[in-house]
Amino acid sequence: MTAKVPSDLPNAGEANQVRVWDRFVRIFHWTVVAGFFAAYFTDGDFLDLHIWAGYTVGALVLIRIVWGFAGPRHARFSDFLCGPFRALRYVFDLATGRAARHLGHSPAGGLMVMVLLVGLLGASWTGYQHYISDDHSGGMAWSNFLISSAHAHGEEIHGQPAAEVEFWGQAHGWLADLLLTLAVLHLGGVALASLAHKENLVRAMVTGRKRRE
Ligand code: HEM
Ligand code: HEM
Repeated sequence: MTAKVPSDLPNAGEANQVRVWDRFVRIFHWTVVAGFFAAYFTDGDFLDLHIWAGYTVGALVLIRIVWGFAGPRHARFSDFLCGPFRALRYVFDLATGRAARHLGHSPAGGLMVMVLLVGLLGASWTGYQHYISDDHSGGMAWSNFLISSAHAHGEEIHGQPAAEVEFWGQAHGWLADLLLTLAVLHLGGVALASLAHKENLVRAMVTGRKRRE
């Protein structure tokens, strides 16, 4: 006899699925991806867009941190935060084909998520510092942004860079490049884990659902 599918679920496929990523996590992720690449590839040329993309990413990460304490089970840091040894162990198990499947982030995935969140916040913060370090009025970057054109800011920023401007500029550029490297590793990890557990993790980040077991 075949098992009965509950009547509120349209088909057997969905009956075997469980919701893992809530709506906020999914919107957060794809907006951060768009914001990160928009910021990365626009720096001096489209400074207005660059700054707003960077602020959006920074603000979203701050909300994600609150969500890491207040959100549903798999969004919580307590669900996936672990030390580097557990993460390394998982990578080793993945390489030798013995890694256990995790419904939420795996130990290595979770550690990478934490590093990415800190890095993204750092990129927004150093970008903001770089921006205001060249602002002699001491005002907020966004208020100057509203009253001046991007071109004028570009001239100011490229004008006579003080040591401080240079420091923040270098820290900002370095962090952005580090993040790009981490994002490539992140993608590699997603691909490997998808293959190892025979599931499409990218699709799960779109639909929010994964197979039950
Ligand atoms: C995820 C966030 C961000 C990323 C990935 C990012 C990335 C970058 C990159 C790759 C550069 C070029 C660095 C170089 O040439 O060495 C840059 C420059 C810059 N960024 Fe950001 N940035 C972000 C956020 C911000 C924010 C929030 C601000 C300001 C509030 C900002 C202000 C600047 C400024 C003023 C420059 C220098 C532009 C120039 O010299 O022409 N960035 N950023
Ligand atoms: C197109 C490129 C990308 C794809 C396909 C992708 C895919 C994914 C997937 C599948 C997950 C869930 C991993 C799991 O199942 O444990 C994830 C999580 C995450 N990714 Fe990406 N990613 C991309 C780019 C990026 C970039 C560029 C960043 C930031 C620089 C980023 C930051 C994150 C973060 C912070 C999480 C954790 C989400 C949360 O728990 O809130 N991703 N990504």
